[in-house]
Amino acid sequence: MKISALKVRPDALLATWSPEGHAVYPALWLRDNCPSAFHPQTEERVLDLLSLDDEPVLVLAEQTGETVILHYRDGHVSHMPVHVLAAHRPGRRAADPAAIAPRLWRADLTPTGLPRHAANRILENDCELRAWMQDTAAVGLSIVDSLDDRIDAGVDIACKIGFLRETNFGMTFEVVSKPDPNNLAYTAVTLPLHTDLPNQEVPPGFQFLHCLANEAEGGGSLFADGYALAEDLRAKDPEAFRLLSEVAIPFRFHDRDVDIRTHAPVITLDRAGKVSEIRWNAHIAATFDMPADIMPAYYRAYRAFMAMTRDPAYQLTFKLKAGEMIVFDNRRVLHGREAFDPSTGFRHLHGCYVDRGEFNSRLRLLARRTH
Ligand code: OGA
Ligand code: ZN
Repeated sequence: MKISALKVRPDALLATWSPEGHAVYPALWLRDNCPSAFHPQTEERVLDLLSLDDEPVLVLAEQTGETVILHYRDGHVSHMPVHVLAAHRPGRRAADPAAIAPRLWRADLTPTGLPRHAANRILENDCELRAWMQDTAAVGLSIVDSLDDRIDAGVDIACKIGFLRETNFGMTFEVVSKPDPNNLAYTAVTLPLHTDLPNQEVPPGFQFLHCLANEAEGGGSLFADGYALAEDLRAKDPEAFRLLSEVAIPFRFHDRDVDIRTHAPVITLDRAGKVSEIRWNAHIAATFDMPADIMPAYYRAYRAFMAMTRDPAYQLTFKLKAGEMIVFDNRRVLHGREAFDPSTGFRHLHGCYVDRGEFNSRLRLLARRTH
């Protein structure tokens, strides 16, 4: 990317990039992002924005090699690297190695189409770690296989990404049928498709479920891409989509030790209107409290989404084997399991979470060092 022309206006620098076209850099932005505005070591901004005139006046710009030298009327001179101007053309997001476009899937993905990576390769090689994380980000789920038969083998993989997200269920959790359960996951009953902990202000990001034993009858897993469900709902029933993305509903988990509640929509959109999060858990959706006059329409929308989650056209089903770990974006992909019969064998999953922020940070660090 090269600058083919530079033009100075008192209030802005105009650059023509070939072949990308024109970019306008307002003078105050140029001063706010002058290399001298940043600490040389931490690269954090040290400039006090209010120390600048609100309309700095640009008088001259000239390119010498890989630098554009900018002169201002107050005497300030900036040495602006061309790559900074190229990377930060106003009106566009700077490139981000963690911004991986989701590849939506439905039942057509099939278990054989699931990204699958071997634990030891991820642990030993950063290129493998990155390739696995990129697959997991795009598809929203993946399988790591050939794990050691050790309780922490899955956690060791999660920790290659970043620190764990602790929740009221602990730093890690055991999914086994337990006496005195505080959560349906800790029984042997069916768990319909859901996301974990939508009752949290920020639900946990990536979930890791390492299967240590799955010998009981039943206990198969199922998954669905919440983004695909939402996009298909948007296409076929825009009014239902609107209600699920605009009306916040209450979610609540409570037991002896905690009472964690939030209000949030089932479908969260980013500022561009793209689906960025799904909260779906009929067990901990609390008592709806929207005004009565919108309740019938809301129930219709909520039931339409629920019916889609039951449609095999969206479902991926298979039974995890000991030594496998399923990894998925809990804020995108819905997960569930069929009932199992604990009298026929032992079933044990060891789980933990790593938030999206840590996941994305690791992707960016890996992009610095691997190809
Ligand atoms: C859970 C859960 C799935 C399973 O623990 O939240 O959904 O396969 N478990 O037991
Ligand atoms: Zn769950």
